[in-house]
Amino acid sequence: MVESHNLESKFIVLLGAPGAGKGTQAEGLSATFSIPHVASGDIFREALEEGTEVGLLAKSYIEKGDLVPDKVTIAMVQKRVAASDCERGAILDGFPRTIEQAEALENALAEDGKSVCVVLYIKVSTETLMARLGGRWICRNCGAVYHSLFDPPKEAGKCDKCGGELYQRSDDTPGVQRKRIDVYLAQTAPLIEHYRSKGLLMDVEGDKSVEEVQHDMQKAIEAYC
Ligand code: AP5
Repeated sequence: MVESHNLESKFIVLLGAPGAGKGTQAEGLSATFSIPHVASGDIFREALEEGTEVGLLAKSYIEKGDLVPDKVTIAMVQKRVAASDCERGAILDGFPRTIEQAEALENALAEDGKSVCVVLYIKVSTETLMARLGGRWICRNCGAVYHSLFDPPKEAGKCDKCGGELYQRSDDTPGVQRKRIDVYLAQTAPLIEHYRSKGLLMDVEGDKSVEEVQHDMQKAIEAYC
């Protein structure tokens, strides 16, 4: 049973392996509940584009499929979550990824009398993960996400929404994909039991269509946040 924690803010954690559909689902949930989509991976990639110190440090970890050290990641996300647009909550995608990150998030929110209201764990088979990551294409301009088989753009290599160029992430190569899944199993999967023991975890069947998964997640949030 998931407890209802805070009526005035919704901090929702999306937990799942690389390619489970966290980013895809976060976009829809962010629009429905009018709270920001905060994706630690996107923040690192933006920092990298801008050539900041954090971006350059993160690059070496991201390219190998390793996690960026907790100290750097926690400071970065704490700053983002403290911004005024997160006053009413946020959809957290890709954070926390370790027990240390989860505890830091809990402490930072508690300082403001807030807490995570639900953790949606998107369960997807490893076979599906590999297929999803291998076919993912992203718009360089607006960030829209496509899949060559499951959600192809009308014109190959071009974004339907803004006409921008589509690219594949440098960490979506088969070797790095496998490594990211192994790192997830070793360092992030323990969060499943961590949150289950706190009564915060909701399992979501992720091997369904984008729309069906979105529907299940919305229902869970409406019920428990
Ligand atoms: P990050 O960017 O967070 O990547 P990830 O967790 O590996 O997750 P992905 O973005 O690859 O997958 P997703 O679950 O969002 O799937 P998506 O919706 O795109 O992290 C990258 C790196 O940054 C890490 O390796 C690490 O180095 C660093 N990092 C980030 N956060 C960190 C942290 N907290 N601590 C330390 N280091 C950190 O979907 C994938 C594809 O499938 C798409 O093409 C989509 O169209 C398709 N798809 C999605 N859902 C469906 C569906 N239901 N049916 C059919 N197709 C679907």
